[in-house]
Amino acid sequence: MAQQDTDKATPASTKEPAAGTNRRGVLRAVFGTFLGWGFAALGATTGLWAAASTRFMFPNAILQRPDRFKIGYPSDFPRDQVATGLKEKFGVWVVHGKYQGSEQIFALRTVCTHLGCITLWQENERKFKCPCHGSGFYIDGVNFEGPAPRPLERFAIGLADDGQLEIDKSKIFREELGQWDDPECFVVV
Ligand code: FES
Repeated sequence: MAQQDTDKATPASTKEPAAGTNRRGVLRAVFGTFLGWGFAALGATTGLWAAASTRFMFPNAILQRPDRFKIGYPSDFPRDQVATGLKEKFGVWVVHGKYQGSEQIFALRTVCTHLGCITLWQENERKFKCPCHGSGFYIDGVNFEGPAPRPLERFAIGLADDGQLEIDKSKIFREELGQWDDPECFVVV
């Protein structure tokens, strides 16, 4: 009799809903898993988009500076010679010569100071010549014939940690302003 009372005391509703609860639990688990995957996919997509945007907005300017580059060791540039191999890619004449009695290596901009044509190096006449209106420049870059009003310009040049010459095209030095005395625009050899 006591046992019967115990059975009666157990509500019938606590047995039936157990199955429903399990079904809801399974559904919740499945839904939760899909939701988790969705958020994970969204997070990954957002991350990729952010990385691509950063790359687009800040191209090589951050990763590397295209206006600063190494060109080799001073010994690669023989005395009284103009290295012409950097003209096409970098717009630079590298000269191992003399300026006001000082033996130096310096980097001249290839652009004519008249109206901006690209100069040529004429080895037989030992001068830079502009094909547009005939301006001429000595090997040190100083103008001496034609309409160009001033010497070619120099870029900054120095020695990198590994001993190579390094040019920085973001800095320009003008002879007529007295800037060729700046040690940033030549390497003494
Ligand atoms: S642009 Fe060089 S002489 Fe005119």
